[in-house]
Amino acid sequence: MTDDALEARLAKLRDRLTLAQKVRLLTGQDFWSVPAEPAIGLRSLVVSDGPAGVRGTTWSELSPSASLPSPSALAASWDVATVRAVAGVLAYEARRKGVDVVLAPTVNLHRSPYNGRHFECLSEDPLLTGVIGTAYVRGVQEHGVGATAKHYVGNESETERFTVDIQLDERTLRELYLAPFERMVIDGGAWLVMAAYNSVLGATMTENPLLAHPLKDEWGFDGVVISDWVATRSTEPSARAALDLVMPGPAGPWGDALIAAVRAGGVSEETIDDKVLRLLRLAARVGALDGTAPRQVPKPDTRAVLRVAAADGMVLLHNTGLLPLRAPRRVAVIGQLAHDARTQGGGSATVVPDHVVSPLDGLRAALDVEVTYAVGARLPDRLAPIPIAELDVEWVGGDGTVLRRETRHSAQLIWLGEAVADATEVRVSGRLTADTAGTWRLGMVGRGRFTLAIDGEDVLTTTLAGDAHRPAEGAVDRDLAEGDEIDIVLRHFLDPGSTVVGLTLGAERPHPPAGDELAAAVAAARAADVAIVVVGTTETVESEGFDRDSLALPGGQDELVRAVTAANPRTVVVVNSGGPVLLPWRDDVGAVLLAWFGGQEMGAALADVLLGVREPGGRLPTSWPAGEAGVLTTTPTDGVLRYDEGLDIGYRRDQALAYPFGHGLGYTAWQYLDIQTTVDDDVIVQVRNVGERHGKEIVQVYLSRPDGKIGRPSRWLAGFAVVTADPGAEATATIHLDARAWRHWSVREQAWATEPGTYVLSAGHSVVDLPLRAELVVA
Ligand code: BGC
Repeated sequence: MTDDALEARLAKLRDRLTLAQKVRLLTGQDFWSVPAEPAIGLRSLVVSDGPAGVRGTTWSELSPSASLPSPSALAASWDVATVRAVAGVLAYEARRKGVDVVLAPTVNLHRSPYNGRHFECLSEDPLLTGVIGTAYVRGVQEHGVGATAKHYVGNESETERFTVDIQLDERTLRELYLAPFERMVIDGGAWLVMAAYNSVLGATMTENPLLAHPLKDEWGFDGVVISDWVATRSTEPSARAALDLVMPGPAGPWGDALIAAVRAGGVSEETIDDKVLRLLRLAARVGALDGTAPRQVPKPDTRAVLRVAAADGMVLLHNTGLLPLRAPRRVAVIGQLAHDARTQGGGSATVVPDHVVSPLDGLRAALDVEVTYAVGARLPDRLAPIPIAELDVEWVGGDGTVLRRETRHSAQLIWLGEAVADATEVRVSGRLTADTAGTWRLGMVGRGRFTLAIDGEDVLTTTLAGDAHRPAEGAVDRDLAEGDEIDIVLRHFLDPGSTVVGLTLGAERPHPPAGDELAAAVAAARAADVAIVVVGTTETVESEGFDRDSLALPGGQDELVRAVTAANPRTVVVVNSGGPVLLPWRDDVGAVLLAWFGGQEMGAALADVLLGVREPGGRLPTSWPAGEAGVLTTTPTDGVLRYDEGLDIGYRRDQALAYPFGHGLGYTAWQYLDIQTTVDDDVIVQVRNVGERHGKEIVQVYLSRPDGKIGRPSRWLAGFAVVTADPGAEATATIHLDARAWRHWSVREQAWATEPGTYVLSAGHSVVDLPLRAELVVA
């Protein structure tokens, strides 16, 4: 069917619906789906987070999902081929789980490392974000699964996220924050855009004029604007402002109120018709209309793709020559995160994988030599899920009847929109066998009323405060001998009508005093010929729902690194975080490797990189600050967050850095030989691999305008390309510059404008290491 024929068919289908039938389609029928309309052969559409895996409609170990490297790690690859391969995994996962639309990618910029969702965004640079985001969108949609560019727009932080008003100037909005969305709509052809929670310039995003202009008119977006979850607060203003779909449902501000508004003339029926047409277009695209079917997605080798992708994103920040490791004889692996790897960030992007390869697992599998492990320092975190293999979960009604029973294999439980109606209590029971003697902390993480019983006796009754993303905890201590068995029952009392229920039956194993653990790590490092210390953040530091209040590593991790390095200078520090953390000892250690939140295969990929099976393929997609001075705040004042820095974010601003944007070492060395430009605005950069092994280089091209009249940063990224070469061989990077590279947004003309004259092109290895220069004359 031609596009015109399809459009005509969709309009005909829509015109068969009554106003009530049409409006019904515009609010979710539950948490994750849009209603079917059998009258026109439309089945229900299913949407699901998210950026680093496809959760599906349940969030449970009973329905596991492949867990991908976090989006910042993907962007650190600077490699559209890597991103496309990962997107193929996402599309496959979506179809495997009956999902039509993935609620990703998140393309808000890394304006500040305090953003709790930094890990979920791609980069501080609008071009890198746009190019990687576009590769993601295309890679998902080429398999007939929808992708959603989110959160449109200005959602660069979490503090007061439902209400904060972002104030910024128009040039900054266009050149920085809208630019990735523009590219993903125009080049990527994204089928959905998600309206954010926050306000921009005084209007909440579900009612904001930016939904119509530039998104729908100037950029020609023909897809669906979906609200962020519970973001829609009004009937008429949101319906008129070009929001198309309210999520979740079935309750919400549209429904009958919108029908009444149309009847009263407050919203035109054409407005409704446009929304319905967009929804039907999406349904046709994903194969949800009679006569269409979801496409078969080729089965990827998921583990292999994710292992390569994780390594491709790892950034070697510092190396005295220690990496790659050459035939180590005895390796000490140190750090809590080496064992309890943090492979993904917290919040709606979290998925439940069926396995995780921790750094310790990965190294043990890869090395035939002795690998010792010491925790070294314990991180302040919530209680971990209790180590009980099988739990009985009962949903109990007011009269004591069990309304539903589940057998579960994880003590971290969450039900979104799947709570049992009429249940007044969730009861979780299991039998713990103590595998370690000593004092156990036993308790719960959650919100609301709980009672914990051990061996039939109530030991703790409490009401926990906190919010969904920052639940509280309660616990008691219990001394157990090794092999002791106890029965534990956790009762959670539900408020009437609860639709979202979450709780963890938690435990902390006995452990030696901190000083002993540090001493054991030092001893292990001393006895080894190389020490690998894994440091990073926890879910109470980096998560959706709140921002960070410090960039320092939590717990005694700095002290641990210093003590281990003093014992053994051949120390590699692996940074397991989603965003920048301070590394005050960075110049004193043998190597610093940024592994990000690397997804389920992180440990295997880490072993590949440490042992030189693969190069660390990543380059920083974001400047890495040296300290907190000058780092932009994410805390609003009186409900307003001003982006007063304008265009000066990341490398565009003057701040003390530990490592610059674009930086990252490989295992070979590159010489930059020559730069040429062509009449077609291609930049051709010649490089030579002057090291001793095959390698990959990300050739970066920046522009600057030294004598320009338009206020601009001293340089900005204009393009990049991935090249590979054998030792001694040359490679050519051809980078096309679109006109947008030198254009600026003219507020006066309300258009993209060119300042004619001579621009300087620089090419090299990072924003501060640019050995080649050429001039570009723009008319
Ligand atoms: C997040 C979105 C997500 C949605 C559904 C919201 O809280 O901001 O990114 O897609 O929840 O889980």
